Amino acid sequence: MDEDTPAVELEDVSYTYAGAPAVHGVTLRIERGDFTAIVGPNGSGKSTLIKVILGLIKPDSGKVRVFGTDIEQFKDWRRIGYVPQVATGIHAMFPITVGEVVSHGRYTGFSPFEFWRRGNGADVDGVLQMVDMADFKRRRIGELSTGQQQRALIARALIRKPDLLVMDEPIAGVDVQGGEEVYMLLRQLRENGVTILIISHDVGTVMREAGTVACMNCTLLCHCPPQELTEEDLVQLYGFPVEVLHHGRHHDHHAHGEEAVRHDEFDQLTPHAHR
Ligand SMILES: Nc1ncnc2c1ncn2[C@@H]1O[C@H](COP(=O)(O)OP(=O)(O)OP(=O)(O)O)[C@@H](O)[C@H]1O
Ligand SMILES: [Mg+2]
Repeated sequence: MDEDTPAVELEDVSYTYAGAPAVHGVTLRIERGDFTAIVGPNGSGKSTLIKVILGLIKPDSGKVRVFGTDIEQFKDWRRIGYVPQVATGIHAMFPITVGEVVSHGRYTGFSPFEFWRRGNGADVDGVLQMVDMADFKRRRIGELSTGQQQRALIARALIRKPDLLVMDEPIAGVDVQGGEEVYMLLRQLRENGVTILIISHDVGTVMREAGTVACMNCTLLCHCPPQELTEEDLVQLYGFPVEVLHHGRHHDHHAHGEEAVRHDEFDQLTPHAHR
């Protein structure tokens, strides 16, 4: 039964911060193995929606289910990897190395300080390699650039070998090549059956990479495959025309040899096969 339930299910979810509604009446279903991108202007409730999905904040009304379980009863946190929004950098003075930060991702919960409960996962070197940060393992996290910190946090989320990877603007602060590498990594994870939920301001890339796009502006304006998004949808979302080209969609080539090579590479990078 568990296999058939969607990865994430929201029913008429609303959340208000001190009188100002941030998320209103959102009903959303994210299938297992899907790659969903949430787009929308600043302050449109994207991060809030993700926090509600992860049970970090409790909605005023509505239902949230993850892998078929009400989020309030959900306990299997190792199945979820979370990369929070780090616009300004983290723990500038925090005396902890990249290797330690990543290793803490093994423990349940999302707090970097919650490191006392043991879990299983991939190894630190393997996930650092996946985000091209192997050389930084012994460096203090606060000494790194924002983009490098971001990569370390992605590694930290991956070490759980999550079934659902939730990322709040993981590419912000990462350079062009790094961004491309992160998307390549996401494609490989998707090939391995991981459900991906990502917030991004890079509408062009999202249109190319994502399987479905959820347009948020406090309410969910639409949720559909990117090729079904119309110019009017984007005008309604951003208040002005956004030119987006529909081309070179990577996941249209699943069965081809090119993907098979990537799959092998992924297996080499992850010493333990995905559950
Ligand atoms: N802790 C908070 N207390 C009060 N209001 C908040 C808080 N966090 C967010 N808000 C407000 O809720 C609304 C939605 O914020 P949210 O962070 O979800 O937006 P977002 O879509 O993620 O924006 P961005 O693209 O800038 O990251 C905004 O108007 C914001 O000011
Ligand atoms: Mg945000």
